[in-house]
Formats: sequence, C-alpha cells, structure tokens
Amino acid sequence: MDTAAAFDWAGVVNYAKRSYSTPPKTQYELPGVNVEDHLGIPVACVPLWHSVVTARLNLQKGDKNALRRAQSRLSAALDEIEGVYPLNPGGILTQVAYGLSYFQEFIPRAVTDKLMPRAIENGKPGAWALIDSIKFPKDPEQLVLERNDVSFHFKSDYNEHINDVMRALFHPGTHALNGIPVENVYVGDLFNVTSIRRGFAGRGMPRTMALRLGIPGAEKIPAGAMLFMGFTSSHVHGLAQGTLPSFETIPGYTDQTPDSYFAHGTMMHLSHIVLDLEGWYGLEHQGRLRRMFHPRRTEGPEVLSPSQAPETTTFKEELEEDAKNHGVVGHNAQMQFLSRLDKDTTTVYGDRLPKGTVLFLRQDFDTVENPFEFSSDGVVSPTPKPGVHFVGFAPSAQLFEKIRKEMDGVDLQKKYNLPNENTGFTKFLVTTHRQNYLEPSRSHRSFPLAEMI
Ligand code: HEM
Repeated sequence: MDTAAAFDWAGVVNYAKRSYSTPPKTQYELPGVNVEDHLGIPVACVPLWHSVVTARLNLQKGDKNALRRAQSRLSAALDEIEGVYPLNPGGILTQVAYGLSYFQEFIPRAVTDKLMPRAIENGKPGAWALIDSIKFPKDPEQLVLERNDVSFHFKSDYNEHINDVMRALFHPGTHALNGIPVENVYVGDLFNVTSIRRGFAGRGMPRTMALRLGIPGAEKIPAGAMLFMGFTSSHVHGLAQGTLPSFETIPGYTDQTPDSYFAHGTMMHLSHIVLDLEGWYGLEHQGRLRRMFHPRRTEGPEVLSPSQAPETTTFKEELEEDAKNHGVVGHNAQMQFLSRLDKDTTTVYGDRLPKGTVLFLRQDFDTVENPFEFSSDGVVSPTPKPGVHFVGFAPSAQLFEKIRKEMDGVDLQKKYNLPNENTGFTKFLVTTHRQNYLEPSRSHRSFPLAEMI
C-alpha cells in the first residue's frame, strides 16, 4: 500500500490539537479543567469567562427540510469552531441546550413520544424528564418563566475567544476566528436572539470587579473568592464527576439506558439571581459559614474551601437536628439528601459510588449585569448589579424541582419556626428569570431529533 498517499496531510500541524483530549460524550464535561489544592481540599479551576445566548428559532414550524438543513449547518459551524480552538478553557467550550418549546413545536409528536426521556415516577416512566420550570415558593411576583427554544453556553479563559465565536455565529458579515477567515460558522439567520448573559468565575474576579465597579459591599469580598458570596463553589466533592448527571447513568431517575437516543444528555436549569451583598456581608464570617454550609462548621475566615468530601454530607436527620438544635440550616446541607447518593450505588456503566457522592452539577458564574447584557423581551439597565447566572444539571427536571424547593426550605421553616435569615442564604437573593432545558449528548448537540423527522 502507498502509505504516503494514505497519510492525512490536511490534518498536520493542527494547533487546535496542541493540548488535545478526546472529546467527551457529554457536552457538560469540561476537558482541561484542572484541579487545585486548597489546603488539602480539591477544587476545580473552572473557565474564567462565560457567556450564555438564548434564542427562539427563526424557522417555519413543520418545515422538515428547513430543520434538517439547520441541523447540518449548526453541526458544521460547531465543528469549524473546534477546528480552530482547542476544546478546553485555553480555547473554547460550547454547550447547546434546547427548551421544551423546541421539542413540542418543531419535532412531531410521533418522534418525541418514542424518544424523549421520561422521569421515573411511582416506579415507572411518567412525564418527560424535561418539564417547564415552576415558580418556587420564595420567587418574587415578577419572576419571568422563560420559553426559549435554545441556549448556547460559551466558556473560555479568554474573553476574546467568546466574543469572536459569538460574532461569527450570530452576526452576518466577514469574520475570522483566531485570524482565520470563517467559512460555515454563521447561523444567525436560524435564530432570533432573546438574550445575551455574560459573566466570570474565579481568579479573584468577584472582588476585583465589584471594587472597580463600586458595588456596595465589595470591600468585604475575600480576595481569593471565586464567587461574590465568598466561598468556593467548585469543590470537586461538591460537583458531580464524570457522567453522573446524565439521564441514564444512575438507575432510577429516568427510563434512559446507554443505548437510548438521549444517553449522555441531561436536564439543565438556567436562572438569573440578584445578590444582596451588603446584607450578606453584614453577617460575620461564622454567620456566613453556617448559612452557606451548616451550623456545625468551625473553619476560620482564612478557609474559603471547607471540605465537601462524602463523609461531610448532611442527610435529612442531621438537617432536622440543625434546624431544631441550632435554629440555622446551611445552603448546601439543605439539599444534600437529594443532591447526593443516600446509599452505595453502582452506575449503569459499572462504577461503584460511595454513599455521599454528589450527582448534581453546577456550572454557574457571577455577573454584574442588570439583569442581562441584552434582552429582547425586557429592560436592561447599565447600572451594575451583583448576581449569578445559575446553571445546574440533574438527571431530571423533577429532581431539580425537589432540590430547589428544599433550598427555599419553607416546610422546614414552618416546622422549626426558622426565620428567613437562618434558612440558608435565601434572604439575600432574588431570582429574576428561570427556564429548564435539555442538554443532549455532543453527538446530538445540533437540533436533536431533526434527523428522525
Ligand atoms: C447565589 C447563588 C448560589 C451560590 C453563591 C451558591 C453557592 C454554593 C456553595 C458555596 C456550595 C458549596 C460548595 C461546593 O459544593 O462546591 C453550594 C452547594 C450547592 N448548591 Fe449552591 N449556590 C447558589 C445557588 C444555588 C441554586 C440556585 C441551587 C439550585 C438548586 C443550588 C444548589 C446547590 C446544591 C444542590 C449544592 C450542594 C451540592 C452537594 O454538596 O451535594 N445552589 N452552593
């Protein structure tokens, strides 16, 4: 055989592969995110810059050919981006998720009935594992329950990578990525962009940004804090590892199996939360520590990353004791009996997980937007406001709903007569927008199910 002829000359000296890792099957696993040691505690060093773009589809409902064309165009666009930038925080990481309206309005019932993941309810498959988000008990009157068809989440250590990719994807005209003229990246005609939401995480950014923008309470934010509220929120032991949030991985949440269409997919919740930093930092360190974690914590102000190892988990009985004996419950302790395994468990892939392993994944980031950089449906203000664009992944929207209800903690409050300010940190936040999405596997990231219609 002529080996020289078989050699792939087109693929040599490929800078996008300088720090190559095999692309994961999911979209939410992030290649290249390293782990730091914080006084013996493992912490994920998450990408610095984030941007979310939400949109409604600019396609005729029922036009199957248009949807199939859209599928191959977006797929080609995402492949071209990844041909330029490495798939890690030094390049760019892109995630695409789809709202309920996409599946209900653009995909025929015969297809969704057969393939949409279903949550296990009362021991058997029930409603879709993607349902609309509800308004939670402590949400304000004016909360917006959104109905976008699609959401893009871009992450990179370099803001310019995100800006260039967003321009090339959504703005008509001549564009380049890393100086290379793009060919198939523009897909802006397929979407009506409804919002652009930007932010950051880590690298001492919350304090730096808050100080430079004159945000009240800024001087109290610890210098190394990854998020405005001061503590690390990317503990390796507090974030689902591997594919644990996928529909199929842990038995019992949905009807999906490793062979299902939506295997390696997950449910994503996106919300925007405004923070009252002055109120929060009006509390002393111990008060914040107890409300963020639990009232039995004793770490001093020099520890921003208290251990989250499985054995530190607070289960239901201890949570009730905290409420009864201390009159305080901590944010993560409120939910751990649902966000972590309550018994040793084996995944469908044969991995053995100890009790206390977390299966909920958070990829939220801070923002100073009020509430977004751009919104087609609402007013945006140039006055900076500290907030969080919350991004959470769970095997079903039903599980997320249960977890989020516990964060409001209304039942526990009633039972133990807890004041609002002792129920995690809900007194210091106001949610303005919410929506649930389905984030498919990488292989179905472009208009899932369109090839089936
Ligand atoms: C202002 C917004 C928020 C901040 C600053 C925040 C911060 C934190 C921190 C510091 C931790 C513990 C550290 C870690 O595990 O790495 C944590 C855990 C957790 N958060 Fe939040 N959080 C916020 C909003 C939310 C929301 C909206 C949810 C939705 C349900 C949520 C769900 C959870 C869960 C389930 C855990 C526990 C994970 C586990 O240990 O099993 N958080 N959060």
